[in-house]
Amino acid sequence: MSLWGGRFIKEQNKFFKDFNNSLKIDFILFKQDIKGSIAWSKILLKSNIITCEEQKKIETALNLIFEEIKNDPQKILLSDKEDIHSWVESRLIYILGDIGKKLHTGRSRNDQVATDLKLWCKKKIKVLKKRIIKFQKILLDLAEKNISSVISGYTHLQRAQPILFSHWFLAYFEMMKRDFSRLQDCLKRLNISPLGSAALAGTGWKINRKKLASYMGFEKASKNSLDSVSDRDYVVELLSIASISMMHLSRFSEDLIFFNSGECNFIELSDEVTSGSSLMPQKKNPDSLELIRGKTGKVYGSLLNILVILKGLPLAYNKDMQEDKECLFTALNVLDDCLKMSTIILLGLKINNKICRKSAERGYSNSTDLADYLVKKGISFRNAHEISGKIVLYAIDHNKSLSQLKLRVFRKFCSVINDDIYENISLESCLDKKNSYGGTSKRQVLSAIDKAQEYILKITN
Ligand code: ARG
Repeated sequence: MSLWGGRFIKEQNKFFKDFNNSLKIDFILFKQDIKGSIAWSKILLKSNIITCEEQKKIETALNLIFEEIKNDPQKILLSDKEDIHSWVESRLIYILGDIGKKLHTGRSRNDQVATDLKLWCKKKIKVLKKRIIKFQKILLDLAEKNISSVISGYTHLQRAQPILFSHWFLAYFEMMKRDFSRLQDCLKRLNISPLGSAALAGTGWKINRKKLASYMGFEKASKNSLDSVSDRDYVVELLSIASISMMHLSRFSEDLIFFNSGECNFIELSDEVTSGSSLMPQKKNPDSLELIRGKTGKVYGSLLNILVILKGLPLAYNKDMQEDKECLFTALNVLDDCLKMSTIILLGLKINNKICRKSAERGYSNSTDLADYLVKKGISFRNAHEISGKIVLYAIDHNKSLSQLKLRVFRKFCSVINDDIYENISLESCLDKKNSYGGTSKRQVLSAIDKAQEYILKITN
């Protein structure tokens, strides 16, 4: 039996019933639905709508339902109820009879679903924040342990300038810091209870909505009932945060796929996160990273999905909004998994230091330092750039690195060059010179590691 039998004569079309049913998706909200229902029963008692004894019975029965389902939420799916709210209520009525029928007084599934979803999001944000910290800790750990590793930094995927590998790890640390703060920021706006807004106009019963909000751990009660039941901004926000974070993880994956390629050979991924080819025995493919990169599409798709769902909806609740959950659950679970996968990948990462260093030495990535050297000798940067470029061309033609050129060769291009040129274009000096705040010199990177450690301490306390 449905919750609204009275007005209907005919049964629902069987296909429509299935089409309309959201239980297969929203059953995972059972904990939140029970939490919200217990809070609602308490406020009904406070407002003398039910008696103390009735409230106790309702709360005990709801806890019983919770225990019943905790270990096997899928059990709910055996029922043909429309959604999790109908399921919990009908189960309550099954256990308590008429007393159970009192719980829905003054409440609508419209404020109920908005409340449950927000409670779920709050919990998921907590999980994601923990995952980000775990990922950051391993990034930081690798930055610390590999402070002497040098790799080539790239622009346009062309060797650009040498950087410390630690600098690369810390770059992703920074991105994750921003993702974390976006989640925190979203939580502030999310932490507002819609319960008591009823269908759209507010409830007809005198209840203290602020107290009700505090029963569920919300900071405040929402200000406008019409807005409260229609608001899915937080879903859009979370999906946009998830999209940004997946974009970071996807770039992280792409970098590592490149570093792991036969052409680079900078790193080796653990056997644990790679797979072989069914045909080519030599292959060890970076599937874990490729999957992170691939799954990003699903999360972007979810963001677009919710934006399109909401765009033309009149106030207040419309059934279109039921479609918000599948994309939200999927996307946040994908992000959760990908953060976990990224952490596992880093735990087994091996760096081939010698190869990294060789690559950083090649590719004329010290030609800017050669130009800077000329500037120090009094030449304008534009002219220095030109001279350095010509020297690079010469070196390419003669299959030599800049450091392998004789002083007399250098001097053919510019007479201000002396034998101090060699120390000025050595790999170490190229790195040391990038010593302004945020640069890749060892001093700057060590100080960035210190700051990152302080940040982790602060955030985890
Ligand atoms: N299953 C619905 C959803 O997830 C719950 C709200 C239904 N409200 C209604 N008036 N039909 O959106």
